[in-house]
Parts: sequence; C-alpha cells; structure tokens
Amino acid sequence: MIPFINIRAQREAYLSEFKQAEQDVLDSGCFIGGPVVQALESELAEFTRAKHAITCGSGTDALTIALLALGLKPGDEVIVPDFTFIAPAECVMRLGGIPKFADIDSETLQVSVESIANLITPKTKGIIAVNLFGQCAPYEKIRECAQTNGLWLIEDSAQAFGAMQNGVPACTFGDIAITSFYPAKPLGCYGDGGALFTANDELAQKIRLIANHGSQTRYIHEICGMNSRLDALQAAVLRVKLRHFKDELKKRSENARKYNEFFNAVPGIAPQEIANGNTSTYAQYTVLAENRKSFIEKLDAAEIPYCIHYPQPLHTQPCFKGLSASRDGASNAIEACQKVVSLPMCAFTDVEEIIARLRKTTI
Ligand SMILES: Cc1ncc(COP(=O)(O)O)c(C=O)c1O
Repeated sequence: MIPFINIRAQREAYLSEFKQAEQDVLDSGCFIGGPVVQALESELAEFTRAKHAITCGSGTDALTIALLALGLKPGDEVIVPDFTFIAPAECVMRLGGIPKFADIDSETLQVSVESIANLITPKTKGIIAVNLFGQCAPYEKIRECAQTNGLWLIEDSAQAFGAMQNGVPACTFGDIAITSFYPAKPLGCYGDGGALFTANDELAQKIRLIANHGSQTRYIHEICGMNSRLDALQAAVLRVKLRHFKDELKKRSENARKYNEFFNAVPGIAPQEIANGNTSTYAQYTVLAENRKSFIEKLDAAEIPYCIHYPQPLHTQPCFKGLSASRDGASNAIEACQKVVSLPMCAFTDVEEIIARLRKTTI
C-alpha cells in the first residue's frame, strides 16, 4: 500500500543525521529546554523572519497560550473558520470564549473576510485565521478588518510553516502566529510539539511565562500558567528536518504540480485553488470531487489511500451543540465537506505511480 505520508522514507533518507542528533541529546542529560531547544528557536525565528519564536508542547497548546496571552475572558467572542480542524474553536470554547463560525471561499477553501465581517458584534475580541492545507489565508483583507474593528488576530499556521504570501513568510501575519510539529505536518517531530511567533516583546514575554508555569525565576510564579514545553529530543529531530525543509517544500510543490496537471484534465475533479501571491506547503493535497463516492471507489480499486479533511463543518460538531446559530451562512463550508478528498502527499510520495494507477482504473 502506498503510504499517505511516508515518514519512514524520510527517516531513512536522513538516518545518520537523526541518529547523531538523538544520541547527542540522550548523552547530554538535558531533556527539557537547554541549548538544543534554544538553537531550534533561533532557527525557527530566522526561517520565518519572526522576531520571537517560542516552542511549546503542541499546536493546540500554542493556540491556548496565544488566547491566554491576548487576555481572552469568558463570554468573549472569537471568529474562527467553520471548515478546519477543531483546535481553534476548541481552544476558544475551553477558555470560556464563544467561537463564531465564518464561511470559506469555495475555491481556495480559506476563510472568507466578508463572512468574518458579518459575524462581528460588540462582544467580538479577535479572529483566528487558519492557513488551511498549507497556504496563507487572505491576510491583507483580514488584517484590515481586524484593525478597523479593534480586534486581535491569531494566525493558525499549524499546516503552513514554510508557506509564503507575496514574498512574506507564514507565521508573521498575526499579533501571534502558531504552528504545529505533529508528526504528519510538513515539519513534524516524533511526538507532539508546537511553536508561537510574535513581533511583540511584551507578548513574547507573556507567552514564555504562561508556557512555563507562570514562572521566570525558579519557584516564583507570577501567574497561573501551564506546563507546555518542547523537549530536547523533539527539538533535535526538528533541527535535522529543518536543514532539509526547503528542498522538501520544492519536492512537495513538484508533486502538487504533477497532480494538478493530471486532475485538471479530469472532469468533475478540481484541485484546491492556490490564491495569487501564495505558495503552499501542501500539508494536504486536496481536491473537490463532484461525485466523491465514485472517486473514492476509484481510489479504493487502485489501492490509493485518501483522507476526508474534514467530514463536517465545525458548527455541526456535537461539542458545539447550542452554538449552531453562531455562524454566518456556511454554505461553502457545507459543500466543501461533501466534496473534499485529500491524497498522499509528502516529499517522498511517488505521485507518478499514483497517477499511473488512476489511469489504469476504469471504474
Ligand atoms: C489548523 C490546525 N490548528 C491546530 C492544530 C493543532 O495542532 P496539534 O495537533 O499540534 O495540537 C492542527 C492540527 O492538526 C491544525 O490542523
């Protein structure tokens, strides 16, 4: 079976580098924080051109820390996309905030600025924009909307570390940006991990404080924080992968180009559109299939794995029962959930083999 993401091939490719980096950490006796984590944070800041890069335990933690740093209070409303992974809405809800679900653009699948504007009320405090499937949300308009309405902006770049918009790297568009190093992400570690990015010194200080039990000086706790730290082994793995990341992004783009060339000639299948000025990390290579059932039958017959990102809009999730009125339209989100199919994608995916199998499958 073709793997959906070939993490094993990636390990094989850089094996000696991984082994050395992992051994060095194990021999150092320094497992939480320390020089390897600090070195990774400098490299992440350099890569994104963000002033501050601060690692933490996961992308979900990063969102929670960002909301705490921005001062979210119970009852505050935060606008999130209706079509994405649950984490942004979940983190708002867990802190007592109220997620409001914005619709998406039907072709790029990114959050719609018009829909965001329709959801703003006197209780709205901020926006979490998601860089869905690896390309940036439309930040020029989102930032204008946030500024005009006095809202803060979190850029959820869990899927798009390494993407660019008009020559500017992802992770620099929000008051705070976050990313995830979950193993399946384009830059993934061997467990959970995440990071926050900001240009604001005060926010950076708050973020570090919250992520480390509210403490700057050992056993002095200025606020009630949390334990959310990236460990040194994960940092070592990420540093190896970061060295190869630009090459991997090129290979992912090349794979997407091959898929696009094939699917553009297949009636009823439309690849997610990449907006002008955007590059994508292709965290997912996703198409919209007019007849998803028959497309999936083809994939099954050709033994090609696939995923449905995502099967239902967030406003219909059982955990948000009672909030279904907190949405704006959502017709594009609903339609996307009925049509989307994600195909195998990473720097080690043999897209030519996948296309050859699809060409041979007649059902
Ligand atoms: C858009 C988005 N935000 C946040 C997260 C949460 O990241 P993590 O799994 O590292 O907690 C994910 C993970 O898939 C995601 O896709």
